[in-house]
Amino acid sequence: MKNKVTKAIFPVAGLGTRFLPATKSVPKEIMTLVDRPLIQYAIDEARAAGIKEFIFVTSRGKSALEDYFDHSPVLEEELERKGKTELLDVLKQTYMDSGAIAYIRQHKALGLGHAVWCARRLIGDEPFAVILPDDVIAAEKPCLQQMIEAFEESPASMVAAMEVPPEKASAYGVLDVKEDMGSVVSVKGMVEKPKPGTAPSNLAVIGRYVLQNSVMENLDQMKSGAGGEIQLTDAIADEITAGRPVHGFRFKGQRFDCGSKAGFLQATVSFGLGRPDLREELLNYLEDVMHIEHAAQ
Ligand code: UTP
Repeated sequence: MKNKVTKAIFPVAGLGTRFLPATKSVPKEIMTLVDRPLIQYAIDEARAAGIKEFIFVTSRGKSALEDYFDHSPVLEEELERKGKTELLDVLKQTYMDSGAIAYIRQHKALGLGHAVWCARRLIGDEPFAVILPDDVIAAEKPCLQQMIEAFEESPASMVAAMEVPPEKASAYGVLDVKEDMGSVVSVKGMVEKPKPGTAPSNLAVIGRYVLQNSVMENLDQMKSGAGGEIQLTDAIADEITAGRPVHGFRFKGQRFDCGSKAGFLQATVSFGLGRPDLREELLNYLEDVMHIEHAAQ
């Protein structure tokens, strides 16, 4: 059985309704944190983790996302002519090797599990990673790299997990923990959006997965059986029912929920402060704002 993970799926076919009206014409994944679109952060994380094949599950209205990775000879010539080598380097970071990137269409938004299943022929019989670009993770060692290293040591399907306060648990999929081994926990169940006070732990699933191929087979069954939304967490939970191990992985890093407005704003401030060319000006501005807010109260 192959344990090396070289393929990643980026499900980007959602409607992004929380960012309307912007997402009426701009895909959510093209929205920028400082000066880079969300998708660039996801691609960089996957590259650092050794991913060689990048599979986007897209939908109608996402052509800006496909164009983003194209070469832009006119822009390149212009920057060269003007001697703007730094900007030229920035531009080249967006280029992908020919054949490394594939686009699959999800014809109907039937859920995250269905989006992942749409990529089944490109995944073949290999394990694979799934990255949700709305979850941006600032980390010394990129989150997916931490996970793939753990997976190669102990090859069980793995979900990224994060401690959340009890009152926030109902917004997530929550792990029912069998054994806590530190950064890795063995999982005996998963509850999607538990009712307040019923969460089996404070470990919530966020948008990074490293999955055994059998999860894709589980999705096959759901496709033929159930109608409505097809959940990825259900297909992972089926692994447990089938007696195969599932692990939660406590990653080291800070996660921003850029699928929500508040999370996106927090990420903008945090990534802005992390940029030496912007830090001082932004900090001064924030101090002024805080001062004015306090004075007004
Ligand atoms: P979300 O639940 O954030 O949905 O999907 P969304 O459509 O992107 O945004 P809102 O809630 O309407 O604002 C989580 C991830 O799963 C993908 C999304 O693109 C996002 O990356 N997804 C979801 C699909 O690719 N297809 C689906 O059918 C559903």
